[in-house]
Amino acid sequence: MTRAASLRAASIEQQVNALLERMTLEEKIGQMSQVNAAGGHVPAHLREAVRGGRIGSVLNEVDVTTVNELQRLAVEESRLGIPLLVGRDVIHGFKTVFPIPIGQASSWDPTLVSTGARIAADEAAAHGVNWTFAPMIDIARDPRWGRVAESLGEDPYLAGVLGAAMVRGFQGDDLADRGSIAACAKHFAGYGASESGRDYNSTNIPENELRNVYLPPFKAAVDAGVATLMTSFSDLDGVPATANTFLLRDVLRDEWRSDALVVSDWESIRQLAVHGFTEDDRDSAYQAANAGVDMEMASTTYADHLASLVHDKRISMQQVDTAVRNVLRVKFRLGLFDEPYTDPAAFLPAANDAHLQAAYDAAVASAVLLKNDDWALPLHADQLGTIAVIGPLADDPYEQLGTWVFDGDASHSRTVLRALRERIGDRADVAYARGVATTRSRGHDDFAEAVALAERADVAVLVLGEEAILSGEAHCRADITLPGAQEALLKAVAATGTKVILVLMTGRPLALESAVRHAHAVLCVWHPGTMGGPAIADLLLGERAPSGKLPVTFPRVTGQIPIYYAHRNTGKPVTHESYVFIDDIEARAPQVSVGNTSFHLDTAFTPLYPFGHGLSYSHVEYEHLWTSTAVLRMNGSLTIGVDVVNVGPRDTTEIVQLYVRDLVGDITRPVRELKAFTRVSLARGERRQVEFTLTPRDLAFFGRAHRLIVEPGRFHAWIGGSSATELRTEFVLVDDSTR
Ligand code: NOJ
Repeated sequence: MTRAASLRAASIEQQVNALLERMTLEEKIGQMSQVNAAGGHVPAHLREAVRGGRIGSVLNEVDVTTVNELQRLAVEESRLGIPLLVGRDVIHGFKTVFPIPIGQASSWDPTLVSTGARIAADEAAAHGVNWTFAPMIDIARDPRWGRVAESLGEDPYLAGVLGAAMVRGFQGDDLADRGSIAACAKHFAGYGASESGRDYNSTNIPENELRNVYLPPFKAAVDAGVATLMTSFSDLDGVPATANTFLLRDVLRDEWRSDALVVSDWESIRQLAVHGFTEDDRDSAYQAANAGVDMEMASTTYADHLASLVHDKRISMQQVDTAVRNVLRVKFRLGLFDEPYTDPAAFLPAANDAHLQAAYDAAVASAVLLKNDDWALPLHADQLGTIAVIGPLADDPYEQLGTWVFDGDASHSRTVLRALRERIGDRADVAYARGVATTRSRGHDDFAEAVALAERADVAVLVLGEEAILSGEAHCRADITLPGAQEALLKAVAATGTKVILVLMTGRPLALESAVRHAHAVLCVWHPGTMGGPAIADLLLGERAPSGKLPVTFPRVTGQIPIYYAHRNTGKPVTHESYVFIDDIEARAPQVSVGNTSFHLDTAFTPLYPFGHGLSYSHVEYEHLWTSTAVLRMNGSLTIGVDVVNVGPRDTTEIVQLYVRDLVGDITRPVRELKAFTRVSLARGERRQVEFTLTPRDLAFFGRAHRLIVEPGRFHAWIGGSSATELRTEFVLVDDSTR
């Protein structure tokens, strides 16, 4: 912290304390209560509650006149004049919708992610919103879970870097600046491990796994100064996150020294009783307040019971004061006491050209070219008479926006079909057939039209995947193949012999092993947002080149889940030699286990596309991997470098990735872990040296005793263009003090 910042923090602390001294218990509990707004008007009960100081925050009010009226009631008509926090799920854009978070994560570009958050904050702030419930930084290793769409993927390091970038984007340099809003790191913690990828389900996470995998992104967000955190709906080893003293006290407050505001999730305090963790609402209020949840979202157990819990000395006034301090601090940091009102005229219009350009850039950078046989892409419009555009997502302004777009304005959306027509003009005929009504439709009635179109076309671009509602909160799937009749449509079109390009618009990785056989190229664009169409058209036509890399593994079949790159080795790791396919087993084969390894009989042991994978329109080779020393000392550092060479036909951008394996550990260690990455632009033919520096801190992990340790020993290190890279070196970490 700079001197000026620490002086300001001290002065805020003084103001918080001075205000706290004047507050009644009822007013304090009011600050700990968040209620849902009515949307566009202030009903009488809300008016009275705000006037009476019984509410500290509202959510879901984006009509700026109404927000200003609520603030006026709070500031001018309540006894102490404390302004309101106004919360909203601004997850990947407000009016201008950016790619869904898993898409943005495919850019591996913190600057781009931060810019998107900044624009979202600005558009939301123009409506009086001063608090977003983002970033969602739950590690997601199960693509059945619908919320993988909102996540930044499966890797703690990548999610931490990008999550921190989002926090910086939302909050800006100073929360009091116009266009800055408070961010919220959610859902603390472990939600991504929901059993069977079913939303809200239980999680069982050993403490070292929790600390090594699920908590690091939250630590990164706290280090980036995130103003608030939200507890998870899920339970963790039987203790719901919303009443989890280990998470909320031991880790967040005691270890990380965070004074961020902690809000519950929607009614998650009341749900403590449903979990079977508490007797009733009063007990729930006790457990949550005691664990350190500062504000209750939507349910009213605090409003109903906290005062009596204080009178009965079950909750101390000190606990209440700590919670209220955490709330008031955010309000002071946001500058709400100085300027509670929003003047929309002070903001640039939403969805202005600069915002649309940023959304376009993000959609381009989010696209991952999964497959490109015989350089099927890019298309050369001048050489194509007819381009068949097929599929229910090719021309749907709403579905391309994805999940969590309460405020997204589909009227700004540009679709793939429209953009292709605009870009191509009269150079080729761009003809359209929907093929199936929605991504879920099972009927084949419209196939004939699509097939006939493909037959007369020179190339077929199929825009398939999942419509927005199939992912996101509460939208989990047990079978993550292409829904409905889409694979059959793809097959029918491919049977015409026309070259097939599959553009995959989806909220999750899909199990595409059988589907991709019918496509020459597969471009995964996730739900690309407002500017998806122009971005995809430019990628297809080679005006722009894909550069995204997967932030999450694509399984071949659903049954492989969970499948992620940073798994442990087991005592019987599979090899190509030991692998046995079901068809290769003789009839009446006797039972054998000796020599067998860890695999499924009915699918390959590798994923369809590994974490970090992504092709471009050029080809990059990695050569001359080197380390500055073979011996890394505890107080030293090590440089690992490689030559990255663009040997392909055009300029390109490559995301260079460094992975490390700790060969022997106090607990068994992942076979690879991402430790660093960088985006490199390479002109055609260009060779560049890329270097990363590692220190022992980068190799630290939580061991059996749940303490952060750095162990001497041998390490492997790889640099390459995906987690499957084979270019490897090694080094030894030496602790001189123990020799
Ligand atoms: C429930 C979701 O889990 C959370 O992510 C969201 O921010 C809240 N509802 C508020 O809408």
